[in-house]
Amino acid sequence: MEKLKAIRGMNDILPDESFKWEAFEHVIREWAASFGYKNLRTPILESTNLFVRSIGEVTDIVEKEMYSFSDRLNGEELTLRPEGTASAVRAVIEHNLTYSAPQRVYYMGPMFRHERPQKGRYRQFHQVGVESMGIPGSDIDAEHILMGASLWRELGLEEISLEVNSLGSSEDRATFKEALVEYLTARRDELDEDSIRRLTKNPLRILDSKNPDMQSVIEGAPKLINFLSDKSQKIFDEFKRVLDINRIDCRVNPTLVRGLDYYNDIVYEWKTEKLGSQGTICAGGRYDGLSEQIGGKAIPACGFAMGIERILALVDLNSRRFSVKSPDAYLIYSGQGTDVIAWETAQRFRADGISCVLHCGGGSFKSQMKRADSSGANFAVIVGEEELSQGGLTVKPLRTGDLQQTVKYDAAIALIKDARDS
Ligand code: HAM
Repeated sequence: MEKLKAIRGMNDILPDESFKWEAFEHVIREWAASFGYKNLRTPILESTNLFVRSIGEVTDIVEKEMYSFSDRLNGEELTLRPEGTASAVRAVIEHNLTYSAPQRVYYMGPMFRHERPQKGRYRQFHQVGVESMGIPGSDIDAEHILMGASLWRELGLEEISLEVNSLGSSEDRATFKEALVEYLTARRDELDEDSIRRLTKNPLRILDSKNPDMQSVIEGAPKLINFLSDKSQKIFDEFKRVLDINRIDCRVNPTLVRGLDYYNDIVYEWKTEKLGSQGTICAGGRYDGLSEQIGGKAIPACGFAMGIERILALVDLNSRRFSVKSPDAYLIYSGQGTDVIAWETAQRFRADGISCVLHCGGGSFKSQMKRADSSGANFAVIVGEEELSQGGLTVKPLRTGDLQQTVKYDAAIALIKDARDS
């Protein structure tokens, strides 16, 4: 029979890796809470329209990368979320969450984009996203940058650079668009097929092209940052000033436009050189128009998201390591009547704060000991007939040369806890 496999670009996260994910998720929860952000959980499936209207019809994501289908039971057009911002804004509008106070939220979970898979780029990948809604002004954007910088520090990540840009207001972009179209039209024969199509539909997207042949045309193009209104210039300057107060270095990159249409004014990307071509680990910006675009009232908003696979790959390359969580004890038993004590002891251990694997599946004493060793537990705890008659447990250290001891229950937990906590 044919062996079934996972879908290309969608990975299993196996037990030897998942401990890092759990440890990372724990760090994220504490980090988000320390900045006063609360968790928001939205469905993985949304109506296709939500993403088309948010991300923009003429973007790589919407044109080429969405997992979209019609529900054959009721004909609804659905899409596996390619990102989290659209859903977060939809939820905030739907539940009127900004009615009495601004919202600071975060989320983690899988996202889906039908991209060409390679190292650091997957079709199911995972993001941590942070969104603030109902807060105007650039101090909140600076707070988001500070959150990123704190997290990199906490994870021991080094040499991560920050690129920032301003996309101005929609009016600024309209003026810029005219200059851009004029420039690109004059160089029409240097444009690739995608760009020629976008020249009339969404010329700004041409600046986001990853085609190497397009890079020299893009570099020579007019820069949006030179078309900013006074208001947008002020927002951008204030943002950079607050970064400066917080001693955060950044480089203004006038070609940074982001791949989603909902942004205005401040946009940014955190990058590393250490991950090859997939070096953007985190990105975001302001999206003040998005709420209205999907039917809500105007809500000033901004946020960012990071790719968990990329961050964890970087953690692997850097100093800090997440440690594997092995059980404290592996409990084995053999002999008449020992199973009753073994089951009872295992449950008592757990209630007393000792993590414990109870051997299952039978086998000789020797094979059970082998399992205890490979479980990674610090101690084997043995219930044999002798222990049964003495009313004790034999505690055998597995990771040190210390001798085993047969002791009463209370002494056994003290031994195990002392070793763990020392
Ligand atoms: P994005 O730039 O599309 O922005 O994605 C954010 C991050 O997700 C990227 O910088 C990258 O680390 C990771 N990422 C994206 N695609 C993949 C992939 N195929 N495989 C692995 N990692 C990937 C957004 O998604 C916006 N929603 C960010 C945002 C939040 N803006 C405002 N709020």
